[in-house]
Amino acid sequence: MRAFPKDFVWGVACASYQCEGAWNEDGKGPNIWDDFCHDPTARHIRDGSSGDVACDSYHRCREDVALMKEHGVKAYRFSISWARVIPDGDGPVNEKGFAYYDGLVNQLLEAGIQPMVTLYHWDLPSALHHKGGWLNRQIVEAFGRYARIVARHFAGRVKTYMTINEPQCVTSLGYGSGEHAPGLKLSQRELARIYHILCLAHSEAQRQIKAVDPQALVGIVPCGRLCYPRQDTPENREAAYRATFDLSRDWVFTHNIVLDSLIRKGYDPSIPAVLRQFADTIDPADWTQMETPDFIGINVYNGVMVDQTGSAVENYPGFPLTGCKWPVTPEVMRYAPQNIYRRYGLPIYITENGLSCNDRVHLDGQVHDPDRIDFLHRYLLELKKGMDEGAPVKGYLQWSFLDNFEWSLGYTERFGVVYVDYPTGRRIPKDSARWYAQVMNTNGECL
Ligand code: NOJ
Repeated sequence: MRAFPKDFVWGVACASYQCEGAWNEDGKGPNIWDDFCHDPTARHIRDGSSGDVACDSYHRCREDVALMKEHGVKAYRFSISWARVIPDGDGPVNEKGFAYYDGLVNQLLEAGIQPMVTLYHWDLPSALHHKGGWLNRQIVEAFGRYARIVARHFAGRVKTYMTINEPQCVTSLGYGSGEHAPGLKLSQRELARIYHILCLAHSEAQRQIKAVDPQALVGIVPCGRLCYPRQDTPENREAAYRATFDLSRDWVFTHNIVLDSLIRKGYDPSIPAVLRQFADTIDPADWTQMETPDFIGINVYNGVMVDQTGSAVENYPGFPLTGCKWPVTPEVMRYAPQNIYRRYGLPIYITENGLSCNDRVHLDGQVHDPDRIDFLHRYLLELKKGMDEGAPVKGYLQWSFLDNFEWSLGYTERFGVVYVDYPTGRRIPKDSARWYAQVMNTNGECL
């Protein structure tokens, strides 16, 4: 295949709670995932585990960066644990916490790997949760301060920030279904309020980052339903576009609530009644506070096939599924970036893509994962089609480099291109790590 653009960014992604471990070391404060996993009154995690140790990346960061370098990784998207650098969220700074990220960032830079920092990948400092968390508007200021402290600290070293990862999951899983920390089950009205506060927090963080590091690029990583056409006809494409942003289906799990707030500075007229009622209570001045990000990060795992009328086409019996039973739908990677670009007109990064497989160490001591190679290969071919058709995608970050703690599924699902033997911490690059290295090293030409 023809190579990707010369400056295309190839990399891998992970998040603090999912890989770092060291949950109570060097002055780190507790966060809502520590509390959720340690909750003595309920078993929230499928295998009863926690991120206490995870991949132990806190202590093995040198080894991990060396492995990334060996595999030709060009960019590493990781998140900062807010409670590691500001233990109670809005009080004193923990220099030892920063020392860890200094080590990581410096090693990445020495290895020629671009650090891409997510500020919030779900591990809210417990102290802020006890003040109301994302329901309390005061968090906007605390998040802005945190962003400013981080951006000032890394100015000149970190050039790309993502403020909030998947505000839709923060809201719907953390405060709606209760599957994720902090495990609350609130009304749709309250979820609307959380969305609004998350958008204000993104905006404040973006302003604060730019104030101390005007060169920095600031994005956000939303998620939600992504539809693709059954047939590649203009009518069906149009139907897929409309279905992707159709608020009458499930407004909570869509890209538009967050992105319309930030970029269009208001909600779409088609919002459902519950959102309309909430919208009526918003101070109009709030909309002037919303900051348009420099780019949009999208996490693409699967999509919904729709027909010409925009109705979902049911998957046939025996439809290909990943380890955690998510449908394998490579076509979404062609259409989603085009649809997001058509509505919002901003550059795009694929900030996550990958799958969990039933990986294990084979008799020969290696981890063979042909399903992962096939999956990534198919999605990347479709991505290239979408780019050739006009989607301005600047980079692709595979989720994830290492197997890691998959939230409420614990360690039961493995997403890495590198296998982690949790009892010993040993890393074993899977076949897919070598395959992806070749993709990165040939700028996609080998696909
Ligand atoms: C999206 C989330 O950002 C990440 O934390 C998670 O592990 C992957 N999806 C896979 O579920």
